[in-house]
Amino acid sequence: MRFLFINGPNVNMARFTEPGVEGEIDYNALLDYLDVCCQQMGIEPDFFQSNHEGTLVDIIQQAYYEKVDAIIINPAAYTHTSIAIHDALKAVGIPTVEVHLSNISAREEFRENSYITPACVKTYIGFGFEGYEKAVKHLKKHYCKD
Ligand code: DQA
Repeated sequence: MRFLFINGPNVNMARFTEPGVEGEIDYNALLDYLDVCCQQMGIEPDFFQSNHEGTLVDIIQQAYYEKVDAIIINPAAYTHTSIAIHDALKAVGIPTVEVHLSNISAREEFRENSYITPACVKTYIGFGFEGYEKAVKHLKKHYCKD
């Protein structure tokens, strides 16, 4: 079972704090954490990050040809602007969960709209790292046969 994690602009620069973990955690720690979660669930993860909208569209299309089973995407700022990413997700038809580390509904007004939500089977916002883990569990349970 292959799951693709896609992170958009600046997520690689993010610093997180997580309950129960002292100090700040960086993007590489997020990937290590997700790698362990996936291995425990029998999932082969691929991780991809780009700051470029077209590159994100390319990787979504590539997932179709490589028969990826599910996508977990945090499109970052493109969430609020990108019809192209919405269309790519619709075009490939791979079950996708949208994740946001922060609670976008409690931030600036311009973050309230997501063009990505209608192309996804579920959205997790404001759970930090755990949002990605919840996404994996949801996709495995509802969209993948063992
Ligand atoms: C984000 C929320 C977006 O609004 C923002 O532009 C990001 C990160 C999040 O994970 O909370 O870059 O997607």
